[in-house]
Amino acid sequence: MAADLPSRRELFARAAGWALGAASLLLGLVAPLRSVFGVARRRTVRDPEGYLPLGRLSDFLPGVPEEVALAGESRDGWLREGRELGSVFVVREGGGATVFSSICPHLGCAVDWDESAHRFACPCHASLFAPDGRLLSGPAPRPLDSLPARVGPDGELSCRYLRFVSGLPEKRPA
Ligand code: FES
Repeated sequence: MAADLPSRRELFARAAGWALGAASLLLGLVAPLRSVFGVARRRTVRDPEGYLPLGRLSDFLPGVPEEVALAGESRDGWLREGRELGSVFVVREGGGATVFSSICPHLGCAVDWDESAHRFACPCHASLFAPDGRLLSGPAPRPLDSLPARVGPDGELSCRYLRFVSGLPEKRPA
């Protein structure tokens, strides 16, 4: 006597069930895989010396400060997670550039570039800085903090993102 064979409808239902199960499994893996491999897609990844890429030097207009947001990574065991670090101002000049921290040296607010007045302005206590970082007026005790920067052979500008103690006349690493 022949064994009972599943009908075509039963076979189709089983196949659909397996496909649904496989799709659910794959969807469940997406978030963990993104957290592991996501950093590779981020624009900014620190090199071994701690330099962060800012873009091609030739893409910055000479003499016009341009703000660049920096992202880095934090590590928790073998997991890496992207995070915002802050921002810097790039001022291209000659064959290089000066990179300033956007953190006001008075009490740490974020300074803005005021294009119409052609100067940096801090919204908290009105310190003003020249395009070259010089203190023009206000309670800030020193100029804007410049950061170590370099241009690679491929024309890529990068900087080290350092923080300094605010409220001091001298630039002291935090
Ligand atoms: S924090 Fe910038 S002037 Fe006070």
